Amino acid sequence: MTDVTASAATFDQRIATRQARVGVVGLGYAGLPLAMSFAESGFDVVGIDLSAERVQAVNDRRSYLVDVPADRYSALEGTLSASTDYGAVDDLDTLTICVPTPLSKTRTPDLGYVVAAAESVAGQLRPGQLVVLQSTTYPGTTEEIVLPILESRGGKVGEDFFLGYAPERVDPGNQDYDVRTTPRVVAGVTAECRRRTELLYQTIVDRIVPVSSTMVAETAKLHENTFRAVNIALANELALMCDRLGISAWDVIEAAATKPFAFLPHYPGPGLGGDCIPVVPHFLSWRLREYGYTNQLIDAAHEINSHMPIYATQKVADALNDVGRPVKGSRVLLLGLAYKADVHDTRESPSLEILRQLRQRGADVRYCDPWVPELRFDGVDDVSAAFTAEEVEAADCVVMLTPHRAFLEQPLWDRASLVVDTRNVVPDGPGVWRI
Ligand SMILES: NC(=O)c1ccc[n+]([C@@H]2O[C@H](COP(=O)([O-])OP(=O)(O)OC[C@H]3O[C@@H](n4cnc5c(N)ncnc54)[C@H](O)[C@@H]3O)[C@@H](O)[C@H]2O)c1
Repeated sequence: MTDVTASAATFDQRIATRQARVGVVGLGYAGLPLAMSFAESGFDVVGIDLSAERVQAVNDRRSYLVDVPADRYSALEGTLSASTDYGAVDDLDTLTICVPTPLSKTRTPDLGYVVAAAESVAGQLRPGQLVVLQSTTYPGTTEEIVLPILESRGGKVGEDFFLGYAPERVDPGNQDYDVRTTPRVVAGVTAECRRRTELLYQTIVDRIVPVSSTMVAETAKLHENTFRAVNIALANELALMCDRLGISAWDVIEAAATKPFAFLPHYPGPGLGGDCIPVVPHFLSWRLREYGYTNQLIDAAHEINSHMPIYATQKVADALNDVGRPVKGSRVLLLGLAYKADVHDTRESPSLEILRQLRQRGADVRYCDPWVPELRFDGVDDVSAAFTAEEVEAADCVVMLTPHRAFLEQPLWDRASLVVDTRNVVPDGPGVWRI
């Protein structure tokens, strides 16, 4: 057994002096900004990723994420290098796992990446190391899945190695909050595990929020995202109801939002996107089924939110019909394929579903998205059209889906004969339809 007190003193000293070598497994939207933050705070950081392309990009100091522009590399206090080889683990004092946690088509959590990463780490684990899971996952994962894998090599948690959970809250493209200014919830399997996790994250985050168990931290993350999904569903359902009432949901929300307490405005849109809000709540409902509890609100929110692309497509059909045109053969220009403004990410984007449905109905669909210059979707290769007056004029209907700054800074709405606005950014006028 390791002398825990001596090991703690060494760990603390290595963190304080930035001699500790820090590892991050998975260099994606969550992992790369984290690795960058550790390197900015003075650590020598090693990123491990299975993607040789991403590893090469990091080592070449090239940017592949909106939150990590290439110029951040020149301001590092420590170093940041990357490797596809888990052999690097041997050398590290801490290791944070940020690999994907997708859902299967039947909405079952797929922990394959987490298991694979934990097994690779376990094979190299050495005394005194801190492992932190940061991937979003269902309650119980850290202690029921990751812990037994790490302990399978013979060490004991809290003595020989340390295991924490620190959920990710990154909001790609958010200019107001970054790794440092977004408070970080942290938990540990034992008190010493939590203490070490806190110490590590204090070097890069202004406010640490320690909680009582890894399950609390895991569930808090899911609750945050469920809060968003349910409230967006509430706004989307309001839009569906206001449509029947013949009034504007946006006017209703604007009025309600003047209440200075107990109301937090959320807005309707073409549907949910990204790999968090549409996905994460299902981790909670999936886990609770095992406890004989059937969640109703998450499923109801999912039904409403996934109906929105169908509703938006129908709005386009209604708008075209109103000017005497069928969907079939009409030229439709979609503005924005990324799931939210000013990011490249099209994962789960409702724009793709709208594109698919309009194509299925025979529309001649083109898209414009400065963040998504090329698209391979549904067996079709496509490239973004330029956002020009000619392109907008040539469309029978323009559909505003993602409010990228580029569309708002150079508005061409007066050139469009017909607009369906799913984001309430187009000024009122003849030929402007809104959801
Ligand atoms: N993207 C977001 O905005 C966001 C926000 C909050 C939480 N999260 C969570 O963070 C986690 C990571 O998501 P992401 O968006 O960064 O994913 P991502 O797909 O952008 O990146 C994940 C990286 O992990 C690598 N990887 C996969 N398996 C690996 C393995 N066994 N060993 C080493 N590398 C491996 C992949 O090659 C990829 O580069 C997920 O649990 C996600 O739910 C993401």
